[in-house]
Formats: sequence, structure tokens, C-alpha cells
Amino acid sequence: MTSPLPPGSVIGILGGGQLGRMTALAAANLGYQAYVYCLNKDDPAAQVCARSIVGQYDDEDALRSFAAMCDVITLEFENIPTETLQFLENIISVRPHHKVLAVTQSRLEEKGFAKESGFETASYQAVRSISDLRQATKEIGCPSILKTNRFGYDGKGQVRIEEDTDLVEAWESLQTDEAILEGFVEFDKEVSIIVARSSIGEIKMFPVTENIHVNHVLSESIVPTTVAPEVLSEVEKKLVKLVEKMDLNGLLAIEFFVSKSGTFLVNEMAPRPHNSGHWTMDGCMTSQFEQLVRAVCGLPLGSTKALGKVKMKNILGPDDKNWEAYIKDAHAKLHLYGKSDSKPGRKMGHVTYLELDQ
Ligand SMILES: Nc1ncnc2c1ncn2[C@@H]1O[C@H](COP(=O)(O)OP(=O)(O)O)[C@@H](O)[C@H]1O
Ligand SMILES: [Mg+2]
Repeated sequence: MTSPLPPGSVIGILGGGQLGRMTALAAANLGYQAYVYCLNKDDPAAQVCARSIVGQYDDEDALRSFAAMCDVITLEFENIPTETLQFLENIISVRPHHKVLAVTQSRLEEKGFAKESGFETASYQAVRSISDLRQATKEIGCPSILKTNRFGYDGKGQVRIEEDTDLVEAWESLQTDEAILEGFVEFDKEVSIIVARSSIGEIKMFPVTENIHVNHVLSESIVPTTVAPEVLSEVEKKLVKLVEKMDLNGLLAIEFFVSKSGTFLVNEMAPRPHNSGHWTMDGCMTSQFEQLVRAVCGLPLGSTKALGKVKMKNILGPDDKNWEAYIKDAHAKLHLYGKSDSKPGRKMGHVTYLELDQ
């Protein structure tokens, strides 16, 4: 068993977005130093890190000097090339390692992996050409959703396929050579679970969170949500199997569709802190960001007990202009990410509403 990395050590974070920013703040709270590797010097994470290195993900000199400054490296963005991680792994511990990203960067791979761990998913087929799409549409039926296999986020890289959709147009609109056609799931609700697995193999899960999406983008997360105890215990068993099989070190957020009959279908997975876990900053004994720090440093994982009823609402541009209204609200905890450019729909911050248990 390896000994934990003590406070004072340097945690390197790949990626400069808000997830990196909140991880850096959690690291600082525990006495660690967070250094960030990012694309721009004023990225949200760079604003709060002890040091930041600006570089591209294929800049070996910059990566090497970053690794030399750190004691462990983690990430806040799953689309970092796996080659970047492999390069760094030859120098330093990278948590999670590149094999976890290789699975989670591909919708086809992650669905296959979920099925091998005993989960169900929407029906799906790989689509690499217009003739594949014609064939897949026949087998899966309509409505269905055509998604790029890689690099999609917040509903980008997706088209809904109906009976009368022009398939050539749909296929060409994605501008990709690898996609997935998924059957449309008439879900009862969408939920997510964030699992932490530490470098010494300890596993803890945050409470199931209900997620409400508007235009394919997360709008609100709510805790608690009702799940039958026997269903939850089955899901938890499968998740333990899944993160062990992945040899995860860090966090894995799993998004599910819950069918009308209560079955959990895996939608997608992300090996990092997740927007649906932001409520944990104010509404849980341990935040997802602190849990990531604990997991990658080999510390005991913190309690994942929720403190009461919690609702997290995303603040998408231009709603950040209403910051004064949020800050005046005695029931709201406001978090802004320091982004100077407020574009419509851009994630600018979030607000948590908390009703404490007595
Ligand atoms: N197969 C599906 N059936 C029903 N709704 C879907 C399906 N796929 C995606 N959606 C809706 O679109 C949202 C975003 O899709 P998702 O696959 O999670 O991609 P992203 O990477 O953009 O989050 C989902 O949270 C859900 O609301
Ligand atoms: Mg999603």
C-alpha cells in the first residue's frame, strides 16, 4: 500500500475550466497546492491556482516541465488526448490513467463497457457511413438520436432522427466519420451518480441526483430523489464492479435514464467532477472536488452524506448579469466561475438552494 501524498504536495490539474477551478479551491482548503495546465492564462482555474502553465496538449516540453513541478496529476476535462496522458504517465502518476479516458471518450466504448458490467443502455449501433445510418435507422426505429461518437457535450454533435428526417442531411451535419445511433428512451427521469475510487481502492458514492435538462443542457440537479432501495443496491453493486474493472482512480460520473419501470440505463460517463455534482459543495459533508483530491492523494474518502434537501441551478449566460438578485437571496449560495465572456447558454456559474435537515 502506498502512503498518502501529504498536504503541501502539488496536485497538477490538466484543463483550465470551472471544474479545475473548484478542484483547485478544494485542494487549497486541504493544504495542497494546485498547479494547472491550461490553454489560456486567464482560464477559470488559472485565476485561483498557485501556478499555471499555458500549453497545448501535444507540447512535450511544456508537459514535461509541468510534470516536474507536480507530485500527482489529475484532469478536469475528458477530451485530453490519451497520448498526452501516456506521455505523462512515463514521468508521474496520472489519476485517472489514460485507459479510463480511452473508454469514456467514446460513446460506443462506454456503452459496451457498461453492458459488460451488467448495465442496460438505450439500443444503439455504430454508424460510419450513410448506408450504416440507413441500416441502423431500420433496426433501431424512430425517434432516435444520431450522435458523434466523440467530443460531444451539452447536446452538441447530436441530431434527432424522425420518420421524415433527411438522413443524408443528418449524417452530413455531424461532420464526422464515426457516430452512434441511439434509440430514443422515453425515460421517467434522468439521474446521475458520482463514484469516487481512491488510489488505495476505497470506493464511495454520492447520493443519486435527479437532473433536469433544458435543450440538452443541464439546468437543475435535485437531491434527494426517490429510488427503490433494492434497485439502488443493484445499481451500486454494478458500479463497484465497473469502477474496479476500469481500475479507476479519481471520480466517475455516470448519467442514467430511469425507465418508467424503474430500470437504470447508462447514458454516458465522465471520469472527472461533473456539473450534476456541484450541489455537493454546499449540500454534502464532502464536495465532489474535495473527494477527487482525497482520491488522487490516497487519503481516506470523505462522507457523502447529504445535509438536507438541495437544488442546484446552473447560471447560463446572460443570467450571470442577475448576480445581485442571487446574492441578495438568503437561501441561495452563489458560485461564479470568473469567465469574462458571457455568451448565451455558456455555463457562467451556479447557485445552490439548501433546506437543511433538522
Ligand atoms: N437516447 C436518448 N433518449 C432520450 N433522450 C436523450 C437520449 N440521448 C440524449 N438525450 C437527451 O439529451 C441530453 C444530452 O445527451 P448526452 O448523450 O448526455 O450528451 P452530452 O454529452 O451532450 O451531455 C441527455 O441528458 C438527454 O436529456
Ligand atoms: Mg450528458
